[in-house]
Amino acid sequence: MSSVLVLGGAGYIGSHTVYELIDAGEKVVIVDNLSTGFWEAVHPGAVFYEGDIRDRELLDLVFDKEDIDGVIHFAASSQVGESMKDPLKYYSNNLCGTEVLLESMVAHGIDKIVFSSTAATYGEPESIPILESDRTLPTNCYGETKLSMEKMFHWTSVAHNLRYVSLRYFNACGARPDGKIGEAHDPETHLIPLILQVPNNQRDYISIFGNDYETKDGTCIRDYIHVNDLAQAHILALNYLRDGGESNIFNLGNGVGFSVKEVVETARKVTGHPIPAKEEARRAGDPSTLIASSEKAKEVLGWNPEFADLDTIIQTAWNWHQSHPHGYQNK
Ligand code: UFG
Repeated sequence: MSSVLVLGGAGYIGSHTVYELIDAGEKVVIVDNLSTGFWEAVHPGAVFYEGDIRDRELLDLVFDKEDIDGVIHFAASSQVGESMKDPLKYYSNNLCGTEVLLESMVAHGIDKIVFSSTAATYGEPESIPILESDRTLPTNCYGETKLSMEKMFHWTSVAHNLRYVSLRYFNACGARPDGKIGEAHDPETHLIPLILQVPNNQRDYISIFGNDYETKDGTCIRDYIHVNDLAQAHILALNYLRDGGESNIFNLGNGVGFSVKEVVETARKVTGHPIPAKEEARRAGDPSTLIASSEKAKEVLGWNPEFADLDTIIQTAWNWHQSHPHGYQNK
């Protein structure tokens, strides 16, 4: 039986996808340089190579040695703020890394890849909900490199025997319900883990960035999607390519928007903690509203998100953060 190669399988979304793949009976090989991923997040049933996807020799070795049927690619830098301070890091990790990967895949005749893209490819949306055919005009370097990755896959697929699925995630959140793995970033910048630091006695209050947006309560609206639902979409996308599906792009979100204040309120309900909040200035570069239309993923891939309810999503995150208040122990 051949294996699925998961690049970045020790990271947040990558590790959850590996667990779901193994639950589905797949064999998995992981390559991760552990720069932002964690050894503890690596599924014990996967074959693990520590290394960087810009290392052509390593990729050639993996493709020569392992029987790889398709690739799922999460190995990229993904912080918007950092991408504005250090754009060349993003060009190197995200674009040079993908270039080396594609060269090695083409050389080894590997013809299927599913990869992480983002709502940040759209920039300020033209209309809500956002469709895959809408304008893509990124407002930060992270989104720009992800859009360029999509184009790199497109032109490579035209020239070579290769098909791809690009999955544009909205706001990934939550944790595996059995509590084995969850979200851990250093530094943490995402709303839900930061909110949960308050009831975990690691933060006195949550800052609300901006209260004067043109939304129902003045705070930003986002489409929060559970990490296991994202993981399931990768498996469906891989099977779609295995069944001969053409290269394609899909949004992944719940199609429902929650304001920052609503997320804080839900976290209060789930944790039973008052979670004080302070309204502060806007954070630079935040669009006011991002909500996906995921109808295409539902129709074409048969995707059906299981965690549509924000209370349940936050409950899974809370279980993880309570049992791992400092995230993973070891790098
Ligand atoms: N926010 C706060 N307080 C905080 C942290 C965040 O009010 O302490 C707000 C933000 O301003 C934003 C919302 O909560 O309005 C969500 O912020 P996150 O940082 O959790 O997520 P983003 O929407 O900024 O970013 C997500 C992904 C990115 C992706 C982007 C697409 O994390 O990888 O969506 O626009 F690029």
